[in-house]
Amino acid sequence: MKTQVAIIGAGPSGLLLGRLLELQGIDNIIIETKSPDYVLSRIRAGVLEQGTTKLLREAQVGDRMDREGHVHEGFALSFSGRVERIDLKRYSGGKTVMVYGQTEVTKDLMDARLASGAPSYYEVEQVTLHDADSDHPSVSFLKDGAPHIIACDYIAGCDGFHGVSRKSIPADRIALFERVYPFGWLGVLSRTPPVSHELIYANHARGFALCSMRSDNLSRYYVQCSLDDKVEAWSDERFWDELRARLPEETANLLVTGPSIEKSIAPLRSFVAEPMQYGRLFLVGDAAHIVPPTGAKGLNLAASDVYTLYHVLRKRYREGRLDLIDKYSEICLRRIWKAERFSWWMTSILHKFSDDPFSQRIQEAELAYFTSSEAGRTSIAENYVGLPYEPVE
Ligand code: APR
Ligand code: PHB
Repeated sequence: MKTQVAIIGAGPSGLLLGRLLELQGIDNIIIETKSPDYVLSRIRAGVLEQGTTKLLREAQVGDRMDREGHVHEGFALSFSGRVERIDLKRYSGGKTVMVYGQTEVTKDLMDARLASGAPSYYEVEQVTLHDADSDHPSVSFLKDGAPHIIACDYIAGCDGFHGVSRKSIPADRIALFERVYPFGWLGVLSRTPPVSHELIYANHARGFALCSMRSDNLSRYYVQCSLDDKVEAWSDERFWDELRARLPEETANLLVTGPSIEKSIAPLRSFVAEPMQYGRLFLVGDAAHIVPPTGAKGLNLAASDVYTLYHVLRKRYREGRLDLIDKYSEICLRRIWKAERFSWWMTSILHKFSDDPFSQRIQEAELAYFTSSEAGRTSIAENYVGLPYEPVE
């Protein structure tokens, strides 16, 4: 097989890149180790920045999002028994976020690819990258036991944190930066109306909690848990009791509970690989970086990488601009590190790191300071709605 861009991974990064390239007439093939159903069964975050929604519309997959998604103009921070609203629109110069699940974004992208007939191979095995540092890279894999090879101009490594792309780069050509947090998030999805029409991020002496949603009758809640915790140890009742205990009383009293339809524990990590390219291989999204979910930046960072790579490749094929190829990583990393900082900071002020009461008071003071100052509110709002994309020129 021969194509212009071989895309490894059919998560949101790979599918969105493939779609944008396809609309520009740039050939691409996507290969993915899992099945479409498995990819769609993963429940992930659901807050989209305006840059992300704009890119999805540009990819002509924004219709259902615009119909079914919910625009949020603010969110709440709860601490010291009170709730402070951050007015995103007011403090970010009119910007808002869209609440629409990553699973739905992925489904819309998959449907568009299926309809266009652009080639995808799911449930492949033994994906191997070859000659990424030459001018004739290729990717080999097995499908139903039969060997295939894709000769290409470029490889987009969109295969997530555990993928093969980053690991194919020689160790002396990549630097890894990492922070692993000493706790996880226990998440529950339930067919109940959300406790509040906006998200609530709660700092509490018992640990962090988050009230989020997917729709008017689908709620997503999280509580900080220990890394040793097992999902089986958390009955629905225990989960709801713990969530209520971490919310201000008037919010807890409004909580509508019901059976969980999904329950899982996720660890929290900050991670960046530099540079995000090696020869003709580009790393995109979770393959290159991870953020803790506290700032809702994971999918949005993947989208901004896709934006950058899409424009680099568009100008390469449309205008013969070879000079931009080497700039991909540096353009992406400037924005990524700022989002890493914000996600780390949100994590550090909202979670319980120790039993030390001094740390708890300092967090409460930091939250009180940031929410009472115009500068503080502006800082939170402009980061939460997403920092601007750097033009590719
Ligand atoms: N070959 C092909 N595909 C692979 C391989 C491989 N060797 N290894 C992993 N994959 C697939 C995974 O099965 C997955 O479907 O690559 C895909 C990567 O998707 P994601 O992990 O969702 O990563 P990405 O597309 O970058 O999405 C951005 O940011 O914070 C997150 O939750 C957010 O998942 C979202 C991500
Ligand atoms: C979610 O709805 O799953 C969600 C929302 C916001 C976050 C993290 C997760 O910061």
